[in-house]
Amino acid sequence: MSRLSLLVDLATLLAREVDLDAMLSMACERVAEALQADRATVWLIDAERGDLVTRVALLPEVPQLRQPAGKGVAGIVARTGEVLRLEDASRDPRFDPSADKVTGYTTRSMLAAPIREDARAPVRGVIQLLNRKEGVFDDEDERYLVALAMQLGRALSLTTLRAADEAGPGLVLRGPFNHVIGRSPALKAVYERIALAARSDATVLLRGETGTGKGLLARAIHVNSLRQSGPFVTVDCTTLPAQLVESELFGHERGAFTGADRRVPGRVEVAGGGTLLLDEIGDFPPEMQGKLLRFLQDRRFERVGGRQELTADVRILCATHRDLEGAVAKGTFREDLYYRVRVIEIEIPPLRERGTDEIEQLANYFAVEHARRHGRPPTVIEPSAMAILRSHDWPGNVRELEHWIESAVVLSTDARITPALLPSAKRPRAGGAASAGEVRLAIGLSLAEATRKYIDATLQACEGNKTRAAKSLRVGRNTLARALSEREDPSE
Ligand SMILES: Nc1ncnc2c1ncn2[C@@H]1O[C@H](COP(=O)(O)OP(=O)(O)OP(=O)(O)O)[C@@H](O)[C@H]1O
Ligand SMILES: [Mg+2]
Repeated sequence: MSRLSLLVDLATLLAREVDLDAMLSMACERVAEALQADRATVWLIDAERGDLVTRVALLPEVPQLRQPAGKGVAGIVARTGEVLRLEDASRDPRFDPSADKVTGYTTRSMLAAPIREDARAPVRGVIQLLNRKEGVFDDEDERYLVALAMQLGRALSLTTLRAADEAGPGLVLRGPFNHVIGRSPALKAVYERIALAARSDATVLLRGETGTGKGLLARAIHVNSLRQSGPFVTVDCTTLPAQLVESELFGHERGAFTGADRRVPGRVEVAGGGTLLLDEIGDFPPEMQGKLLRFLQDRRFERVGGRQELTADVRILCATHRDLEGAVAKGTFREDLYYRVRVIEIEIPPLRERGTDEIEQLANYFAVEHARRHGRPPTVIEPSAMAILRSHDWPGNVRELEHWIESAVVLSTDARITPALLPSAKRPRAGGAASAGEVRLAIGLSLAEATRKYIDATLQACEGNKTRAAKSLRVGRNTLARALSEREDPSE
């Protein structure tokens, strides 16, 4: 395969790839092969910590390396935005031998280029090649790598992984989708389905309790699909009175009804070339379901008061928190429509089933995010407040957690979130939840998780007072502190 066709090939693949790691490892593999390098690594700038982290590498020795910006070859390239080429790394002061010490690998020649959209754009990472199999890297290799790095930079700018602050360097490296936090197995399974859905044009039904992220994940499907550059339009089926649904969706002609003084295009037309989300499809008025069904079948429709049959090129996503099967049984939702909308079904798990570490990650994320939005200094959540968050049931799921944190951020006067700033967790909980002095633990938790929940609940019952909690648990304060600082997943 010629080098040029490889570039073109990469460009199309990059634009389509959903999972950042899959895309980058493919790029690494191909470029190492094309330039006869023994190793290839992609370093990305972690927007939160400001340092470089190896995201993927044809470098099987270690799972992940970190390097401060400005240090070592990759660090210098990240800081200066200049390409670096070393013929003999061992004699070059810019080379940082510490990685070789960790990996046991011996670096000889090196070539590293900045990953950025163009010469003026912020550097988002570095692609680095080690040890050319024959000779050393030459001018042509350098030009090629620069071109490839720019392709990568463009691809990254197309993904939703950009730093929240557009102009800043780096990427938000938390999850495969921008601003979608969570690495629990439950959520990873959802990501896989989202990635799959993004690759096709099929109708998707997103299900889940209120506040689980259906809207957010619908957008993730859109921005990772081939329609990413088209519009993303939402129709909220709950707020639409039945008489208006038709004209909202399909538009109307001038004079179609009293007050229709001009032609108005429907949402299906506005979403042309893009994606249309029918939010709360379970509330779609029964008398209009036939027209929707017809549209879903062949994408044909008529504007209200119009005689011409039109077509729209839209991908349909639907979301609901309702029991659609029950609605079908009751006759409020057409069965044929039900089968049309659930071609790909994605169930988003409630927050309480994702594990307490996920609650903590989300809470920290919202603390940073809302502090930034409200122009506050970065806000930290005190361990006693975190214990309350970890043990809450979250009937309102992620949205509820987000509201708690946002209000605490706004109320905080010293950039700290203490239990007193949380909307009282003493409030009675939804039916079936534990009463005061009890903990409810779902079957299926690991022993460590169950222990952790029990500790958190005890701490909460003691209003965050660790001495009292330790006494109640009959352990020393240090044992309690250690238990609180231990995490389920040490790789985080
Ligand atoms: N995994 C997540 N990571 C980060 N933010 C999230 C996540 N899930 C949800 N959110 C945030 O929580 C809020 C609620 O999410 P969203 O509106 O997508 O939920 P929903 O399932 O559509 O809720 P509803 O059923 O009430 O419409 C949003 O602000 C969203 O950005
Ligand atoms: Mg929603």
